[in-house]
Amino acid sequence: MLVTGGAGFIGSHLCVELLDHGYEVIVVDDYSNSTPQVLPRVERIAGRFVGAVYELDIRDRRALSAVFDRHAVDAVVHCAGLKAVGPSTRMPVEYYDTNVGGLTALLRSMHDHGVHQLVYSSTCSIYGDAGRGPLDEDTPAQPTNPYAASKWLGEQILADVCLRRHEYAVLCLRYFNPVGAHPSGLLGEDPAGDPDNLMPYVAQVAIGRQERLRVFGGDYPTGDGTAVRDYLHVMDAVEAHRIALDHFADAPGMRVYNLGVGRGRSVLEVVAAFSEASGRTIPYDIVPRRPGDVAELVADASAVAFDWGWRPRRDLADVCRDAWRFQQVNPHGYAGAARRPTQKH
Ligand code: UD1
Repeated sequence: MLVTGGAGFIGSHLCVELLDHGYEVIVVDDYSNSTPQVLPRVERIAGRFVGAVYELDIRDRRALSAVFDRHAVDAVVHCAGLKAVGPSTRMPVEYYDTNVGGLTALLRSMHDHGVHQLVYSSTCSIYGDAGRGPLDEDTPAQPTNPYAASKWLGEQILADVCLRRHEYAVLCLRYFNPVGAHPSGLLGEDPAGDPDNLMPYVAQVAIGRQERLRVFGGDYPTGDGTAVRDYLHVMDAVEAHRIALDHFADAPGMRVYNLGVGRGRSVLEVVAAFSEASGRTIPYDIVPRRPGDVAELVADASAVAFDWGWRPRRDLADVCRDAWRFQQVNPHGYAGAARRPTQKH
């Protein structure tokens, strides 16, 4: 199993899940928003070694091809990519190049090596401002920023490849808001620089690394005026990926599934839950809305429950407890942790 972005937030938790279930795991990552220090922790939790780790940019076709030459890869989980909404509006070329160009480079290598099974990390942000209530997979895509547009372009490319070439089986997983951490406290979300996302920001306020949370918008048409999202524990998310690997052969072509809890939580509900889990006060100010944000995004994830029997098993209290544990065990993130030797090209 090849995991691209295997040192990242989702990727690292996925590696543990796959190792725990007996898979041989090969990782490629360029560490642009992650660190090699995460991989010894993955191995420590799983009690097994990752098969090989390659430091490479997903767009580097020669380096990628060499990985496929060296290992008998049967399927790929493609988590590598850029994922921040705000920066994508300032750096659209980087987002299209990495997310679309990275996907086509990967497809090229897969194709050349006869690998036709892919799990693709997609996102609920492709739904844009679709309105209130749970959204199912038939909700029309209307991406409102280059990040979402790049992921949507990736889905369209994959759908077309599957339409033309019947040997391909692609499972697109549209994540809502994956958050939380491994219950060991060894793995979690450790973004480079100040966090863009709510949960790591709240955790850093609780530990004192950031002074106050800025709550973006108090005038949304929601219960308490703050924006509502569907927060999914990362352990539930990676379990869905692992289950996906058993379902490539169910039907030909590409299939798309939402991954979410199906319950919306406002920013202030998240703040209250994190305060409760940490026993710390989270000071905040309500400031103007963040450009590009929408009022509400909640999943209708009944398709994946129906087809695969996957349902999230953890709730917001579990998310906050595990994210807080990670923050306490790693007040400065992964900085200073031991590195694992990686292979370079
Ligand atoms: C976005 C993307 C999602 C992507 C995710 C990970 C959209 C609609 N969603 O999620 O596809 O997978 O990023 O990068 O594009 N908030 C604050 N203060 C903060 C940070 C966030 O109030 O300091 C609020 C936001 O306004 C939002 C909520 O918290 O209402 C969640 O924000 P965030 O964690 O950044 O995720 P999304 O923007 O929902």
